[in-house]
Amino acid sequence: MGSSLLVRALAPPRSDGVLSALERRHAHLTRYGSGKAALRDGLAAIADGSGSVLLPAYLPDGVAEPLYELGLEPRYYRVRPDLGPDLADLERRLDDGTVAAVSVDYFGFPQPRLAGFASLLADRDCYHVDDNAHAPLSVADGTLLGTRGDLGITSLRKLLAVPDGAVLYCSGDAVRERFEPSAIAGVRERFDGSDWLFLAKAVATGALESNARLRRSAETLLASRRDGSAPPSASARYEAGKRPMSKLSVRLLEAADPDAIRAERRTRYREWLRFLSAREGLQLLRPELSAGICPQAVPVRTSAPERLLDDLEAAGVAGAHTWPRLAGPVRADPAYATARRLAEEVVVVPIRRRPDAAGLEAR
Ligand SMILES: Cc1ncc(COP(=O)(O)O)c(C=O)c1O
Repeated sequence: MGSSLLVRALAPPRSDGVLSALERRHAHLTRYGSGKAALRDGLAAIADGSGSVLLPAYLPDGVAEPLYELGLEPRYYRVRPDLGPDLADLERRLDDGTVAAVSVDYFGFPQPRLAGFASLLADRDCYHVDDNAHAPLSVADGTLLGTRGDLGITSLRKLLAVPDGAVLYCSGDAVRERFEPSAIAGVRERFDGSDWLFLAKAVATGALESNARLRRSAETLLASRRDGSAPPSASARYEAGKRPMSKLSVRLLEAADPDAIRAERRTRYREWLRFLSAREGLQLLRPELSAGICPQAVPVRTSAPERLLDDLEAAGVAGAHTWPRLAGPVRADPAYATARRLAEEVVVVPIRRRPDAAGLEAR
């Protein structure tokens, strides 16, 4: 986080930042601490504690947590190598107990075959959930991603370094009529301990960035902690995010300029596309950058993900990773072969820094 953003965030609240930009595009928006919390309240409006929700097989395991809490059964439909839905498989899996199906705008790009997806659901009288967790500011054909279903979500901490934050869009009339925000909706009234911790870390990170020795020793410390303790479970992460949005997040989001963020992300994306397209053995999954898209990261597919990750790490590019950790039922079932291979072979390359700033050159 730049120090100027921090200073602006601590000044009195403004109303021309990221949240205001989303509100201008969609009137029925509710704030939350996490995308999964937003999904929870959205699904609670359309489901009565029974039935199933169809999710894409290519999805982090944690997204099913709100379904379990609401007594809904997660079922998974197959995806194709372009990350879009296998519509024939979706159709086979829709039945009388299906309450809703979720489409995902991966990495801030509109999901392929969305029109076919939506019309299948309309024919079967199922709700459509538009999950745009990855890139809140992406707009396709004049419509904000996340707002194209009956309800939708986006997650703000994937856009900016904020402590938490997400939004629920209630787009359909039926959802709007039935929606009742629960105690985890809205914004926390006060700055709290987690906000101060976040600020302290941001300040410390600034110091670390300019001091390589300090950074290396912090990394060693973190690595040793990682060895010793298991990562938090999906349900623990869900519970932790089940609260209103932090007050500090609101300040930071409103202090940020959405147009400037989008322009910068697009420039970085193009730079990384140029760099990555010059490497052999990589398939760019989203090589086109249409107007309005504000990408989260560059997804590439490779049969040698470790090699790419090693090269990026050696160049000091932090945060590249394969994605995601799939749900248990998907990992266990050969019917989801495509999603399983994608989860092994898709590397998500962050675009916060320029590739040449990391000393990377096309080979
Ligand atoms: C596609 C997708 N949907 C929903 C979520 C949940 O968002 P959050 O982490 O804000 O709960 C994630 C999180 O990574 C995600 O990748």
